[in-house]
Amino acid sequence: MIGRLNHVAIAVPDLDAAADQYRHVLGANVGAPQPEPDHGVTVIFIELPNTKIELLHPLGDDSPINGFLEKNPAGGIHHICYEVDDILAVRDRLKESGARVLGTGEPKIGAHGKPVLFLHPKDFTGTLVELEQA
Ligand code: CO
Repeated sequence: MIGRLNHVAIAVPDLDAAADQYRHVLGANVGAPQPEPDHGVTVIFIELPNTKIELLHPLGDDSPINGFLEKNPAGGIHHICYEVDDILAVRDRLKESGARVLGTGEPKIGAHGKPVLFLHPKDFTGTLVELEQA
C-alpha cells in the first residue's frame, strides 16, 4: 500500500543554523526557506539522491511545531512521509483498520502541492506518519 519514502521531516529550533550545517558540514543540496502559512511552518527542502529531508521551523503562535520543540529543544525527527497512489482509498482502508487520521480526515495540500494526510503517532509505533499522493 505505501510506496517510496518521500521525506523525513526534522523540526529545528534554528532554521539558518540547521541549513548551514546540512549545506557546509554534510555537503547537501539545500534549498531556500519556504513559508507554509497553512501548515504553520517554514520549510527548507534538502534534496538527497534517494529522498528528501525537510527542515521544519514554527511559523506563527499556533504552529504544530511549537509543542514539539518545547519537548525537544534541540530539535528532532518530527515525521516521515510515505507516498501512496490513491490517498482516499488508503485513508478509508486505514480507518477501517482502526487507525486515526488527524484533522478533518480530508487531505490538505502539502508543501509539495500534493494531497497529504497525517496518521496518529500512537497508532504507528510512536511515529507521526504523513501520506502523500505521489
Ligand atoms: Co512532511
